[in-house]
Amino acid sequence: MSSLPDLETLRSEFQSQLEKTKTLEALEAVKVAWLGRKGHLTTLLKQLPGMTLEERKNYGPLYNSLKAAFETSLTDAERALKKSERSRTLEQDLLDTTLPGTPYPLGHLHPLDQVMGELVGIFRSLGFVTTDGPEIESEYYNFEALNIPDNHPARDMQDTFYLQMSRRQLPLPDLQDGQARHEPVLLRTHTSPVQVRVMEKYPPPIAIIAPGRVYRHEAVDASHSAVFHQIEGLLVDEGISFADLKGTLSHFAQAFFGPSTKTRFLPTFFPFTEPSAQMDVSCFCGGTGCRVCKNTGWLELLGSGMVNPYVLHGVKIDPEKYSGFAFGMGVERLAMLKYSVDDMRLFYENDLRFLRQF
Ligand code: DAH
Repeated sequence: MSSLPDLETLRSEFQSQLEKTKTLEALEAVKVAWLGRKGHLTTLLKQLPGMTLEERKNYGPLYNSLKAAFETSLTDAERALKKSERSRTLEQDLLDTTLPGTPYPLGHLHPLDQVMGELVGIFRSLGFVTTDGPEIESEYYNFEALNIPDNHPARDMQDTFYLQMSRRQLPLPDLQDGQARHEPVLLRTHTSPVQVRVMEKYPPPIAIIAPGRVYRHEAVDASHSAVFHQIEGLLVDEGISFADLKGTLSHFAQAFFGPSTKTRFLPTFFPFTEPSAQMDVSCFCGGTGCRVCKNTGWLELLGSGMVNPYVLHGVKIDPEKYSGFAFGMGVERLAMLKYSVDDMRLFYENDLRFLRQF
């Protein structure tokens, strides 16, 4: 049978092909070439039936053991290839901790929050404590306790949103029980009711600020909004005078607008303060006159005054012994003046082109 190939040659041929395979696809090709339907070894095995008995006895077991050996080699090679491929992907996917991270877009506080934080910071540095009160308020705290009785024209200064809620629905227990007051509830028109709530609860000395949202039935325009923000201040102790009010608020104006800021106090009327004063600051135009100050050189900043003895009396603080001053200011207005924003609506429109400037 000289036409039959030498088994050793076959084995080494197979082996050298196997050694050259570097991928699973190449390995599959080798497998097909040798053991496939038309593979080298299959072709040889197919010749067995045509051989003599003698030859069959000789070659049959040899071919079959060769086939088994090839199969084992192929399986081993496949396992080895899979293993090295796995470790290669691991290596490739390995986390490179030195790569710069994906930048994450950072936001910042809304300009109104920034201004509010700055205002609060100035008063905190003077020893004022931050408090707050409910936005759904009773008529008593919003008006009566502040010496604004029913039918008093001062109520017309603040167009009010009244609420149709049953007392049980109200979020605050002290509003729920009614406390023998059967007036309707409303969205607070100013932060001043916090003054009363604090004085009812704590004895003097009191030094608080109360930042928060307030509501008025206003038509929205460049300088009005139905929802806006105020900061209320109250200081009550023995021997507090108008000089303390002026000193505190002038310091505040300079801390907020800059050390060259001048202040002036004009008499005005608030039912809950007596005397009452409007504080103006010198305009940024330096007094030469501009559109913002309407050529007066002054900007109206806030309302203030000495706490009305009626109010102290109402919260059982002895007006003979204690006196105090109070003030209230609009956060939007301060922010507009500080950053020369000429339309309040810009603060609420969430236009990033505006917000990103702060
Ligand atoms: N609550 C007043 C308003 O909203 C502002 C105000 C004026 C508050 C004088 C005060 C004050 O505490 O003393 O118009």
